[in-house]
Amino acid sequence: MNRKFYFYTVLSLILLIASACQNSTNQTNQTNVNSNQTTTASNEIPNRKWWKEAVVYQIYPRSFKDSNGDGIGDLKGITSKLDYIKSLGIDVVWLNPIFSSPNDDMGYDVSDYQNIMKEFGTMEDFDEMLKGFHDRKIKVVLDLVANHSSDEHKWFQEAKKSRDNPYRDYYHWWNEEDGTPPKRVSFFDPKGEGWKYSPETKSYYLHYFSQKQPDLNWENPKVRQEIYSAMKFWFDKGVDGFRMDVIHFISKDKPFKEIPAEFKDDYGKFYGSGPKRHEYVQEMYREVLSKYDVMTLGEAGATQEDAHNYVDEDRHELNMIYHYEGVSLGYLPNSKKIIDPKGWKLTDFKDIYTRWDKNFAEKGWNTVYLANHDQPRMVTRWGNDATEFRELSSKMLSTFLLTQRATPYYFQGDELAMSNIKFDKIEDYRDIESINWYKQIKSEGGDLKQFMESQKIAARDNSRTPIQWDETENGGFTTGSPWLKVNPNYKTVNAAAQEKDENSPLNYFRKLTELRKKELTLVYGKYTLVDKDNENVYAYTRELNGKKLLVLLNFKATESTVNAGVDLSKAKVLLGNYKDFSTDGKLKPYQAVILELSN
Ligand code: GLC
Ligand code: CA
Repeated sequence: MNRKFYFYTVLSLILLIASACQNSTNQTNQTNVNSNQTTTASNEIPNRKWWKEAVVYQIYPRSFKDSNGDGIGDLKGITSKLDYIKSLGIDVVWLNPIFSSPNDDMGYDVSDYQNIMKEFGTMEDFDEMLKGFHDRKIKVVLDLVANHSSDEHKWFQEAKKSRDNPYRDYYHWWNEEDGTPPKRVSFFDPKGEGWKYSPETKSYYLHYFSQKQPDLNWENPKVRQEIYSAMKFWFDKGVDGFRMDVIHFISKDKPFKEIPAEFKDDYGKFYGSGPKRHEYVQEMYREVLSKYDVMTLGEAGATQEDAHNYVDEDRHELNMIYHYEGVSLGYLPNSKKIIDPKGWKLTDFKDIYTRWDKNFAEKGWNTVYLANHDQPRMVTRWGNDATEFRELSSKMLSTFLLTQRATPYYFQGDELAMSNIKFDKIEDYRDIESINWYKQIKSEGGDLKQFMESQKIAARDNSRTPIQWDETENGGFTTGSPWLKVNPNYKTVNAAAQEKDENSPLNYFRKLTELRKKELTLVYGKYTLVDKDNENVYAYTRELNGKKLLVLLNFKATESTVNAGVDLSKAKVLLGNYKDFSTDGKLKPYQAVILELSN
């Protein structure tokens, strides 16, 4: 054989093999978070996406870790804890708002969309933090608050000056000479009024939230372009996505009329049904999102039907949304989160999560959460924070979150089973929601005692108390005076103590993320509710490619029995919050177990 020919044949063969290897690695990277560890044949799962396989950890920067002793958590504080965050086995971090803000609503009132809140640090601190996350293969999702800005934003400062100011149309106005504006309810106004009079121009501006959060006018293309360019600014820096604050509220019912009677008891529903909401999100997709490989999560209290409009791939809008149905269970209707004295039934809880699973079984993708910065601590609300059950029930709830067919959103501190602080005095609260509802109820002569008791369960500040790192003063969160009190239980409930304890909630959470990563059945497997009418136990199977898992969760402080419909003695325990598991279907208080069933 001609030597030259032989040489080229061998060379091209080598190149061919090399390129084949490269292709297969690329594909793996694109479709799979961690394919080399998975135990289920990955090629048989259609439409895999990294954000479906991710566990998202939510950081509330103000309360995570303070680096300079001013009592407020900051970006450098987060950077100092990167190894801890990595050790949790999570894939994505969602940061609550970090843009410039006067903090009327703790960052949900942005005064500059392309700058860092001064309390949180500088742009250099941000770049360093982002690099630190990326070096550890953790993606970073920021919070985009685009339904409203701060009244201290330059746009609003200009807009309120005169009716012909170039920024006037960035907001929604109602001129005094047109009479009283049609009633709009504000969620955070001491009187509940959604229009605020602005004397400079003898007109009212619209604010669904506080008076310092004027709603942006999305009808104005300039407003939309401003938001898109802010988004591009962060994406060009390497940010991996956005969680979009009340994105379903951006389109308003113009011209403003009286709210139809059917929505009188649910203003949120009315605000979330604006005629152009999908048109705007589609435009945002075309102009920004489609140009980047990023993840999007819309906060949208949508119906199941409308949820599809946001997330179905052929809609070209968002990847996921989160609804409020689950977390609303157990409150009196249309109340200021007043707890229903009858509590909530596990069958209703199961029904909600089962319906939402079913909703996305064929199309779209689901999310699951039990807590966030707007909700109390999950262990107090859905488990049991009494000393003997706090850790057990918290692990049980974590098991629920990490075994659903949905991307789990897990709130900081829940891995430590942190619980509600339950303030007695209104003076201890920092949240505008609690403070203004208190004022409203007081001025209406309402039942303040009932409100304060309900707040011990429901108030947002319960989940916003600082992270308890160790047993030193203020739980090691700050060397100064914390902006919001640290839960006094930090002496026993803290990360340092849990690192040392093999059975701690922290180490249990790590095992859960590891298992979910290894076992794609937990991500993609078909979900089937088992023993539907059981008021004590939530049980379900997850099935994929011939593999079948069974999850058993006892939601009660007493021993409960489940009718699993299978012979449990043949099942293999993958993970549980007790050492033993009894194969007769009896579960100990708050027992959680993930089993693999044999065929
Ligand atoms: C969203 C946020 C909440 C905020 C509100 C107004 O619901 O999650 O924290 O107060 O919008 O921006
Ligand atoms: Ca600080």
